[in-house]
Amino acid sequence: MMIERIHREHGYMVRLLALLRHKLNLLKSERPVNYGVLRELVDYLANHAEKVHHPKEDILYHYYLEHYGHNQQIDNLELEHKTLSEKSHAFLDMVEMVLQDAVIPQDIFIEHLQAFLDAQKKHLEIEERNVFPHLIEKFTVKDWQAVEEQWSVCEDDPVFGATIAEQYQQLADRVHQTEHECS
Ligand SMILES: [Fe+2]
Ligand SMILES: [Fe+2]
Repeated sequence: MMIERIHREHGYMVRLLALLRHKLNLLKSERPVNYGVLRELVDYLANHAEKVHHPKEDILYHYYLEHYGHNQQIDNLELEHKTLSEKSHAFLDMVEMVLQDAVIPQDIFIEHLQAFLDAQKKHLEIEERNVFPHLIEKFTVKDWQAVEEQWSVCEDDPVFGATIAEQYQQLADRVHQTEHECS
């Protein structure tokens, strides 16, 4: 079901945001980070989320607004998908610049990384804590069928799924390495 897929993707994002926080802490204590992995991570949160995650949520939010009326929080989330996307791409550009040896003061980079992390985390938490429980309460079986019919993209996650996409290879290795460290 759509809501389960969205929830699963949030689980992936939470894991990536934890990895991002780890990198932020390394940078704050002036230790080196792998910017290649960082670029893949931000790329995933920007490009992949834009392709398969936000569009699914937008279907739910549109449907809700059409059938259940105005809801300020849902209105805000739709708008936030646009601003999150802009912020993510701006930060991705900054990471690319570092990889191309552009001189970016460390404190400025840390500030942007922190802002990116906070914005992603806040958005996800509002969805999980406030909005999805409300949708689940309101939506009928017919509603879920109607939204399901609007999404037909075949999905295999490029980092956490069975086939790792070439552009996320380093990130997938890092994620699986973290799993081993934790077990
Ligand atoms: Fe969202
Ligand atoms: Fe989300």
